[in-house]
Amino acid sequence: MQLLLLNGPNLNLLGQREPGLYGRQTLDAIEQQLKQRAATAGVQLDCYQSNFEGALVERIHQSMGTADGIMINAGAFTHTSIALRDALLGVAIPYVELHLSNTHARESFRHQSYLADRAVGVVCGFGPFSYELAFDGLLHHLRQVEA
Ligand code: DQA
Repeated sequence: MQLLLLNGPNLNLLGQREPGLYGRQTLDAIEQQLKQRAATAGVQLDCYQSNFEGALVERIHQSMGTADGIMINAGAFTHTSIALRDALLGVAIPYVELHLSNTHARESFRHQSYLADRAVGVVCGFGPFSYELAFDGLLHHLRQVEA
C-alpha cells in the first residue's frame, strides 16, 4: 500500500505561522510522525509540499498508477482551486481532505471546499492530530475496499 500526503501553500511555515491557530509543530515533525505511523502499519508514505498550484497538480498526476490513496491539506487552494479538484478526480485516486483548523468555525470563505464533496472523508479542527486521523481514516477505507 502506498499513500501520498500533499500540503499546499503556507503549510511550510507551520511552527511559526499563526501558532494560536495552527500550533507549534513544524510540517517536518508532522511528516516524520506520520511516516512512523505508516511504517508501523506497513504502508509506504510519500510527502510533498508546494506553494504552487501547478506543482501540486503535477504531483497528483505523477501519483497515477503508484499511489493507492491521497491525504491532502490544500490550504487556501481548498477554497479556490477547481484545478486541484479536477486533478484529483482525473487520477481517480481516493482522497481525504484535511485541515488543522476547523474551517467551518472561521471566515465564511473557508466554509467552501472544492474538494470535500468527492472526498472519502474530511477531517478538520484537531491541529496536527488531523493528519493522523486522516491517515487512519483513509487506510481503514482502502482496506475495506480491498477486502
Ligand atoms: C488550513 C485552512 C485553510 O483555510 C488555510 O488557508 C490554510 C490552512 C488548515 O489546515 O487549517 O492554509 O488548510
